[in-house]
This record gives sequence, structure tokens and C-alpha cells, in this order.
Amino acid sequence: LQGAIAIPGDKSISHRALMLGALAQGETIIEGLLLGEDPRSTAHCFRAMGVEISPLNTEQVIVKGRGLGNLEEPLEVLDAGNSGTTLRLMIGLLAAHPGRFFTVTGDSSLCSRPMSRVVQPLETMGAKIWGRKNNTLAPLAIQGTTLKPIHYQSPIASAQVKSCILLAGLMAEGKTTVTEPALSRDHSERMLRAFGATIDIDPETHSVTVTGNPHLQGQTVIVPGDISSAAFWLVAGAIIPDSELLVQNVGINPTRTGILEVLETMGADITLENQRLVTGEPVADIRVKSSSLKACTIAGAVIPRLIDEIPILAVAATFAHGTTIIKDAQELRVKESDRLAVIAHQLNLMGAKISELPDGLEITGPTPLTGTELDSYTDHRIAM
Ligand code: S3P
Repeated sequence: LQGAIAIPGDKSISHRALMLGALAQGETIIEGLLLGEDPRSTAHCFRAMGVEISPLNTEQVIVKGRGLGNLEEPLEVLDAGNSGTTLRLMIGLLAAHPGRFFTVTGDSSLCSRPMSRVVQPLETMGAKIWGRKNNTLAPLAIQGTTLKPIHYQSPIASAQVKSCILLAGLMAEGKTTVTEPALSRDHSERMLRAFGATIDIDPETHSVTVTGNPHLQGQTVIVPGDISSAAFWLVAGAIIPDSELLVQNVGINPTRTGILEVLETMGADITLENQRLVTGEPVADIRVKSSSLKACTIAGAVIPRLIDEIPILAVAATFAHGTTIIKDAQELRVKESDRLAVIAHQLNLMGAKISELPDGLEITGPTPLTGTELDSYTDHRIAM
């Protein structure tokens, strides 16, 4: 495997650019937006609330902001499709729009994913939300109201939960704080600051505070390539003999680079080139050469920093010498599919030695993988 490849835009940053663009005053210009189904769902939902968004493309998307608190009550049910980030972040915003009523839903996967993690803290802020199974599952109905600020101690390190509360906090009077058990991706904090919000961070306690009612001004956002998409090429370059790949334009925000650290611990030959800062996010080209991999343990605070890369790291582990143990990753059970169960089952079908733990996986390698018929469970990271 030889050559250079440019990586499509970061999904998390694409969602946030569309949403903050919608809330800001004036125009936001987005370059490098991810054109996947999930950001399309975000654009669709915000268009339904009166936000003018030019046709989506990778060159330049223009969002005409309506200003904070000015989303229109939509005539249609807002459908987030398969996208947890669209739904969870949007709920925080909608709950804080007094006098407007919203109904939100998603596909069958999203409608089975837990929403209480955002509904419950929003209710503490005064939000009025109804949903299936005692308000825990979408479809949800939201009666927008004036929210009060809170200090929320989140039991999980989740950027979706953190961002939902921070976005709701934008429209609450005073300071809203979220404290996490470990640091999750911080794209919301970086972008909120760039748009003019006051964000205070306490790195010791993993706490972020937003001050309500800021003046948000539209910005130009250049979306870097998604390290979660680069991950497939990084592993391919590492495991296929005699490979050398230059994976270009990859976001290397430290809250996302767990994959690089783990691959290096496993013995992968990875170098960062052309490091630069692009609209507040660190970016690099990543060179990977094939090498012999060894097993390792992946657990603890690194997990939120590589949560979406565990499926492909499991593949890397089938090529590594020894037993790789992945722990503290129970969050994978509530992603687009139960990723622990699906990875274990599908890789076993290919001949891997892999077993499921309650909160992770145990994989002994190296084992050659053989082609067979597999099921992606309509989960994009499993399909890849
Ligand atoms: C995301 C946060 C993560 C991640 C998802 C995108 C985001 O989810 O798995 O793909 O953009 O905030 P959690 O916050 O649920 O861990």
C-alpha cells in the first residue's frame, strides 16, 4: 500500500460548524465540510428551523446565522437519521427556545440509543421533554422554555453530553458548568470560543464553564480531516507489508489522538509532518510505514480519546503478537450498534481469536483473517 491520501472532513467539527453558524449573527463560511449522511441530517434539521444553508459541498458552505435563541418552530418532525451528535446537541438548543415546540426523532438505531444522559441534566435546568420509556428514548417532544444554569457532574466522559449542556447553557442566565470523569473531545469549547463565547476550562477537574447570552459572531471554519477516518488508513499502512502512506490533512486535537499513542505503543512506525494550526485545531500529515505490531492494553483515560477507533484497533490487534486487552469501553455498547458484540462476532467469523468482556475485548494474535460474509449492522465504523 503506497501513496498519499487526503482525508474527508471531521464529522464532529462539521456538525458544530453548522450548528454554531446557525446560532451566530452574520455569515459562517465552512470549508471542507464532511458530506456524509450525519452532517446532512444536521443541515436538514436546521434548515427546517429557518436557517439558510447553501447547498452542501466541500469547497464552501455558507450558513446565514439567525442569532442566539432565534430558531423557528419547525412544521416537520426533526429527523436526525443515524446521527447521535445531531440529536443530542440539538436537544440542548431546542430545550432553551421558550414558546416553541419541537419533535425530534432518528432511525431505528438512534431511537434505541439512551437519551436520558442529556434529558436528565436538561430537566435539572428546567427543560420540558417527553419521550418513550419514561423520557429515555426518541422520538422526543420538547417544549422550549427558559433554562437556569447548573453545575452538572457527568457520570460519563461524553462530548455529546458535555456539548448538549454547554449549548443549552448559552441561553441560560449566568454560568453553566459541566464536569466530566475524564476529558472528552473539546471541539465545542474551541469553536464556541472562536465564535465569541466565554469559555472557562479547569483542566485539573475536567470542567468547562460557559457564560450565558454571549454575542456569537459568524466565522470562517476550515474543517480538518477526520482522524477517525484516517485511522483505517493508519492501521492498513501499519499491517500490510511494505507499505508507506502519507495520510494528509488530519486533525490531531489531543483529545482525539489516542489512536496514534496506542499504535505507537504497539510498535507502529508513525511520524507527524507539516504540523500546523487551522482555525484553532491542530492539523498534520501523518506518515505510516508497515511494521511488526505487538499486543498492548488499552484502558482508562485514553478510552474517550479513541472511542470511535476501537473497531479498527481490534483489527490491528488481530495482527499483533500477544494478547491485547481493551477495557473501560462499555460506551461502545450504546453506539450505532453494540460495537463490542458486533466486533467480536464478525472478527471471529474471519478467524480471529477474540472474546467479549463486559466492558471491552480480549484479542490474541497474530491470526490470519479470511474473507467471509459479514454484517455491518448498518454501523459505518463496522462497515469500514
Ligand atoms: C462525538 C462524540 C462521541 C463519538 C461520536 C461523536 C461528538 O460520542 O463517539 O462519534 O461529535 O461529540 P459520545 O459523546 O457519546 O462519547
